[in-house]
Amino acid sequence: MKRRDALMNTAGLAALSALTPSKAFSAETAGNLGEVIIPPSQEMGKEKHVPIIDAPAAVKAGEPFQVTVQVGKVVKHPNTIEHHIRWIQLYAIEEGSKYVVNLGTFDFAPTFADPKVTIPIMLQKNSTIYALEHCNLHGLWDYAVKVTVS
Ligand SMILES: [Fe+2]
Repeated sequence: MKRRDALMNTAGLAALSALTPSKAFSAETAGNLGEVIIPPSQEMGKEKHVPIIDAPAAVKAGEPFQVTVQVGKVVKHPNTIEHHIRWIQLYAIEEGSKYVVNLGTFDFAPTFADPKVTIPIMLQKNSTIYALEHCNLHGLWDYAVKVTVS
């Protein structure tokens, strides 16, 4: 008997071959990233991880304005090699669109960089701005603000 035939006769492989794609690991069984992002409500009043966005509530179409994202604005987050904010990402989605635009990704060196960033952006339509941050010990956290464009 060849090695391949011997392997195909084992109970484990027979069971494995009986699996349909829906029973195997797939995108449907794995869930989605949104399920593991921790919302601001988890730290209500003592935000240490929430990437708080400061942006004007209303802007003019096409005119640059400043957006600041800061982790630890309310309660300072640790900034050590062992426990720190690794990065912040900033996204926007225009009202009525289903496509998210990545406005920027910002990496922070522990103990050297404060997890705070300010960038100029321009919007053409009413939009929601999202910030996502990653703490090396406590995972992904998000925040969002709406900006009206006239
Ligand atoms: Fe943390």
